[in-house]
Amino acid sequence: MNAATGSDDPRDYLVDQGFENYTPTDHATWRTLAKRQREILQGRVVDAFLEGLDRLGIGEEGIPDFRVMNQRLRAATDWEVVAVPGLIPDLAFFRLLADRKFPAGFWIRKPEQIDYIEEPDVFHDVFGHVPLIMQPLYADYLEAYGKAGLVAAEKGALKRLARLYWYTVEFGLAQTPQGLRIVGAGIASSPSETVFALESPSPNRVAFDLARVMRTLYRIDDFQETYFVLDGVEAWPSLDLDRLILLWQELEAEADIEPGDLQPVDKVLTKGDGSYHRTKPKSAA
Ligand SMILES: [Fe+2]
Repeated sequence: MNAATGSDDPRDYLVDQGFENYTPTDHATWRTLAKRQREILQGRVVDAFLEGLDRLGIGEEGIPDFRVMNQRLRAATDWEVVAVPGLIPDLAFFRLLADRKFPAGFWIRKPEQIDYIEEPDVFHDVFGHVPLIMQPLYADYLEAYGKAGLVAAEKGALKRLARLYWYTVEFGLAQTPQGLRIVGAGIASSPSETVFALESPSPNRVAFDLARVMRTLYRIDDFQETYFVLDGVEAWPSLDLDRLILLWQELEAEADIEPGDLQPVDKVLTKGDGSYHRTKPKSAA
């Protein structure tokens, strides 16, 4: 999600990708990241993600040209990727999603930042987020999310929307016939979290529940203490606006839930042993 402040008009942030300005080092950084991530994602990410990479031509050759990628994206789901310089304010972000436009940072990390960046770059935003936008149901979910965000801003429910995005679009897992798989871009663009999210004994893995997720704080600076698991690759939550407004009203009486805490009503798929976070300082949004 986005922490930036400023104009709510998305047009104030849109820039040209500047594809011709990437250096050989930039493309080499992409190749290093994409090669490593494609290998580690085999058998761990949902098949639709790998299909999306192939169909979009997001490969290991170098940073994709948005103009080429967008022809394929528009044909599949009528979405497009637009370049922005960095994080943008919530309302501008929601307006873009509601208009089926996904904002992506155009810059790429430096070679010395290969494993850690503070703000999302083109590798996270494009490699991590765009493949699933080739799937019609996911594409519709993202648009509905943008529309819900605009209403949430009026109703004082932005933190609920931020948590939903975090635990689905960024850090979601899904149950599939082949087993547990990654759907979230924050996991799918990180080699260490790809393994941690699925295989570490430390985090909880809990069946997705919309109200539960909207009450749950999250860690912004480290692996998650709890991952929420969708009941299928296409089981994106319905975001009916009337229902959401009622839910937000109901949740005002409910306390927030700490990132690693379980609730009596949770359908727990894996109860984490907390071994990873036990020695870490608490920090949650
Ligand atoms: Fe992201």
